[in-house]
Amino acid sequence: MKLEVRNQLKLSTQDLHDKAEFIFAPLLSRECTLQDYLSILSVLFHFHHNFEMEISARNTRSAARDHYIPGRLRAHKVAKDIHQLNHSVSAERMHIGLTNVSDAFCWGALYVVEGSQLGGQVIVKALRENLFKNQSEGLSFFTGDERETGKNWINFLKELENHVLSEAQLAEAKDGARWTFIRLIEFARELSYKPQQR
Ligand code: HEM
Repeated sequence: MKLEVRNQLKLSTQDLHDKAEFIFAPLLSRECTLQDYLSILSVLFHFHHNFEMEISARNTRSAARDHYIPGRLRAHKVAKDIHQLNHSVSAERMHIGLTNVSDAFCWGALYVVEGSQLGGQVIVKALRENLFKNQSEGLSFFTGDERETGKNWINFLKELENHVLSEAQLAEAKDGARWTFIRLIEFARELSYKPQQR
């Protein structure tokens, strides 16, 4: 399989991946606390909740939306994890900017959320070794698709390559991928909100 689009997206978002990785790095530490974990889950809940609302609200024909909904949704997994850790979270409306953009832009956005599952596999391993030694509940978001992760990623990449065809679409997809990383990083900086103990 030729992975021209994927390689271009990877190259053009490398700097932002590094920034996102820095924000999530506490989860890899032996000293990771439940509060660190809950804070990051809270950011992820708001991000994915709003991401899903906006992708759903696209009112033109959208192959990107049809790829993502309903099978790839994940805000509910974050909410379940927070709940299982005896905390609660309620959704705040925050703008991402996916409603009135091209479908190629959305494919770039999906590249970020689908690709983040690869990092999730590294994170869940560290969480199991450290914070979650004696507990299995509360890890469903980062556990993701588990053994299916590689297969689902390849399937996604095939779809990506089939839908981002022209140079103009590639430019839009790069914008979408960069924008999605940037909004996630901004969410992490903006949100002072923390889950509440139940
Ligand atoms: C501690 C945090 C993170 C770690 C350790 C991590 C690690 C990784 C690893 C190991 C890969 C696979 C690279 C490869 O196979 O070539 C990957 C890919 C990827 N990650 Fe992360 N990641 C983290 C956070 C994130 C976040 C927060 C996002 C965005 C929401 C993200 C988005 C991506 C994307 C889009 C890819 C696919 C890159 C490609 O095209 O191969 N990652 N990450």
